[in-house]
Amino acid sequence: MTDISTRQLKLGAILEGVGMDQNGWRDPETPGDASVNIDWYIENARLAEAAKFDLVFIVDSPFITPDTAPHFLNRLEPLTLLSALAVSTSRIGLVGTLTTSYWEPYNVARQFGSLDHISKGRAGWNVVTTGLEGAAKNYGREEHFDHAVRYARAREFVEVVQGLWDSYEDDAFPRDKAAGVFLNKSKQHALNHKGEFFSVAGPLALTRSPQGQPVIFQAGDSSAGRDLGAAIAEGTFAGVDSYESAQAYYADLKGRAAALGRDPDLITVMPGLSPIIAETDEEAQAKADALRGKLEIGKLLVQLGRAFGYHDFSKYPLDELFPDVSGLSLNSYKGHAERIIRTSRDEKLTLRQAAYRFGTWRSDFVGSPLTIANEIERWFEGFAADGFNLRVSTPADFALFRERVVPLLQARGLFRREYEHKTLRGHLGLPIPTHRHGSPLAIAAE
Ligand SMILES: Cc1cc2nc3c(=O)[nH]c(=O)nc-3n(C[C@H](O)[C@H](O)[C@H](O)COP(=O)(O)O)c2cc1C
Repeated sequence: MTDISTRQLKLGAILEGVGMDQNGWRDPETPGDASVNIDWYIENARLAEAAKFDLVFIVDSPFITPDTAPHFLNRLEPLTLLSALAVSTSRIGLVGTLTTSYWEPYNVARQFGSLDHISKGRAGWNVVTTGLEGAAKNYGREEHFDHAVRYARAREFVEVVQGLWDSYEDDAFPRDKAAGVFLNKSKQHALNHKGEFFSVAGPLALTRSPQGQPVIFQAGDSSAGRDLGAAIAEGTFAGVDSYESAQAYYADLKGRAAALGRDPDLITVMPGLSPIIAETDEEAQAKADALRGKLEIGKLLVQLGRAFGYHDFSKYPLDELFPDVSGLSLNSYKGHAERIIRTSRDEKLTLRQAAYRFGTWRSDFVGSPLTIANEIERWFEGFAADGFNLRVSTPADFALFRERVVPLLQARGLFRREYEHKTLRGHLGLPIPTHRHGSPLAIAAE
């Protein structure tokens, strides 16, 4: 186990342009084109960096409908976007989501390996399996992969990508101009992978970066998802909705990792954070109530249905108990759908109540800056989280968090005042992965 007496809070900023809620795009200060406006992303990445955040986080998925949430409808591709952020920032980590369900490991290894070079060691890959069944038809398939197949494929996918990242030992290129030796051929390694899903010879035409390999994040909440995270993740984006569920997820994930012989302290658990902040707790509650009052039930039902592969919930009576959907296959966002069914049953929620609970981003973080900081500290000290991914929504709310909440966390010694490292591994306290072919450079990250 690592020494956790110096454990520090980690902060990520999810840059989501016009937002994933129904009405975020209507904020007067948010540009209507924020999700496709590189200037918006650069500005916000720099603001997060000035506040010493560990990373920015770009979510992504390969399927939309006309009813999809505003940010998802029209947004930049993560790797292209992160490359632009790599050259307009210098310290902050750059994490992007790419699915293992519809890509090829050779491409992904190349893309994230390149980002890691361009950013000088700040890249992270959020490994997901695609939940949305409609994605199949965007990739030449009639049927979406089954949930279990997606996870088996994901595991092999990551194994191949990490193998390709070790194509060259760190001293493979002498670049000796006098002797005319560019490459030491014995330090280039083909992968020759032949597995259940992929056949990849390699080598990849790319050396390792200053952090050795990009950091692996993972998001997925079913039991299979947690098993994958326990096996491969160095950070997880956790889909939890209360202190208790966060504590349970934290213990469960880290327990699964320990059972595999991994050091659980080398996995940074980061739930999403959607704070509603105002000067006083009363004002923040009024703000939360006002936001809630503007939500349209029809759109909430669509968001609720997304977890079930866009199942149409508008056909059930709103004020009766959450309907029996046991006949549905749950081949979409399985973990989330199971939570919705379980919570609705346990708490006897009507469909309307479930739509308000799960069709929008629920937040336990409503209050003054002091209340928010106290709650963050409680989650951190209670091992419900190692850090948080803040959803960057309106400019005013982001400013309140950076200018009023972060200083309180810094004053308590929970969060850095200055960057001490240059790489994402350095920020997260992760070692550089040992090179599988015996590189001499098994050292702590810069
Ligand atoms: C907090 C959280 C964030 C996620 N972010 C993404 C994302 O950006 N893109 C994506 O395609 N899937 C994302 N996923 C979806 C997972 O890949 C999804 O949960 C999976 O397809 C279904 O697996 P599960 O049943 O194990 O949850 C996220 C999941 C969680 C819990």
